[in-house]
Amino acid sequence: MSRLLSLALAACSLLATAFAIQRVDVNVLYSFGNSTWAENLAVRANGQILVSRLDTPEVLQVDPTGVKAPIIVASWDPATYMGCLGISETTPDKFYVVVSGFVNDSFLLSSGVNSVWEIDMTTFTYSTSTGKVASNATVSKLADITTSDFLNGLTTLSNTSVLAADSYNGWVYRVDTQTGHNMVAVNDTKMKFNSIPNPPINIGVNGIKIHDGYLYWTNTAVGSLNRIRITDKGVPLGKSEVVVNNVPKADDFVFKKDGVAFIAQNQMDELSVVYPEWSAAKVIAGSNTSTVLAGVSAGKFGRLPTDENILYLTTSGAEGLPINGSVTVPATVSWIDTSAF
Ligand SMILES: *[C@@H]1O[C@H](CO)[C@@H](O)[C@H](O)[C@H]1NC(C)=O
Ligand SMILES: *[C@@H]1O[C@H](CO)[C@@H](O)[C@H](O)[C@H]1NC(C)=O
Ligand SMILES: *[C@@H]1O[C@H](CO)[C@@H](O)[C@H](O)[C@H]1NC(C)=O
Ligand SMILES: *[C@@H]1O[C@H](CO)[C@@H](O)[C@H](O)[C@H]1NC(C)=O
Ligand SMILES: *[C@@H]1O[C@H](CO)[C@@H](O)[C@H](O)[C@H]1NC(C)=O
Ligand SMILES: *[C@@H]1O[C@H](CO)[C@@H](O)[C@H](O)[C@H]1NC(C)=O
Ligand SMILES: *[C@@H]1O[C@H](CO)[C@@H](O)[C@H](O)[C@H]1NC(C)=O
Repeated sequence: MSRLLSLALAACSLLATAFAIQRVDVNVLYSFGNSTWAENLAVRANGQILVSRLDTPEVLQVDPTGVKAPIIVASWDPATYMGCLGISETTPDKFYVVVSGFVNDSFLLSSGVNSVWEIDMTTFTYSTSTGKVASNATVSKLADITTSDFLNGLTTLSNTSVLAADSYNGWVYRVDTQTGHNMVAVNDTKMKFNSIPNPPINIGVNGIKIHDGYLYWTNTAVGSLNRIRITDKGVPLGKSEVVVNNVPKADDFVFKKDGVAFIAQNQMDELSVVYPEWSAAKVIAGSNTSTVLAGVSAGKFGRLPTDENILYLTTSGAEGLPINGSVTVPATVSWIDTSAF
């Protein structure tokens, strides 16, 4: 087969995949009530979902079967901290979460300080019949990130380090989970909200994930997914590149095992997918005139054989940008079946 013909066939099959992508149904697992904001989530090896809330500084455990009521796992003084954001696991059942100071409408820190806390779930036990906590998770401050303004996405770099994104300043910290030592590890132009003229929001780098030796990140103001190769110490190598730039208001995102990215577009109330070969994302659920995925903020896959194709999503009820200018709904943990992807 000629090279031209095989290229043409490859292009056709890519197009065929893109056109074959169907929209998926969205299901609600749990609703948090009026004026709430579910911001991020992590799934424990036992399948239970840890959800961080931004409207109040709290992390809850949500049952993926929807049978049991959520249990508060960690909470902080709401006079000291605004809310919780990115959450990620390092070694089994050790989670790290961003607990945020207060930002103003420009996303500049106005009071308090941003911090990263450890939630050690190995000490957490509860009655499976009543849900009553028998022994709490062990919650301790790892570090104040004193030079940050709006600390947002968090991901695991190694067993002993996490990366945390500062959305206002457009850079990423590396935080040592044994010492709390932290430093700016990646500071890339494509992480800045003001890398475009008249940015619609002062939020640059938001979701961050490591995949195949690259650090990937969304830039909310630009509406892009980007990447740069990094070492296992989080040191950037070479130049950054744009993966796709048609994901307006991109918030957090997640890779499925096969490399398909699912991107939550909070203020567009949409979820998009990007296959590895694609140069543009495609919307598979939600719309900015519908409450189906109101303010979708992040996604994580189930970890049990029964739910490994289920993508759990946190939603913020469109509290960040009300739908049609005025409609907000309760925040949720929702889910979609990604078996077709
Ligand atoms: C939630 O908001 C709806 C619509 O505004 C209202 O009807 C309902 O009573 C509220 N529920 C609670 C628990 O406040
Ligand atoms: C946020 O705080 C900064 C620094 O104090 C100030 O310059 C900015 O105008 C504030 N933004 C809003 C929307 O209040
Ligand atoms: C767990 O922590 C909560 C909140 O601090 C406290 O009220 C409760 O008594 C603790 N439970 C146990 C079993 O220690
Ligand atoms: C990281 O932790 C896991 C689980 O505790 C362990 O199996 C693995 O060997 C560790 N990896 C490194 C590089 O230390
Ligand atoms: C980040 O990079 C900018 C240039 O784009 C530079 O001015 C700034 O000092 C750097 N900041 C840090 C903390 O590395
Ligand atoms: C938003 O407005 C559109 C157009 O008027 C309408 O079809 C849609 O139902 C509205 N959505 C909500 C959530 O009210
Ligand atoms: C929905 O998004 C489109 C851009 O894709 C924008 O033009 C439109 O104004 C938005 N509609 C609403 C109701 O926010």
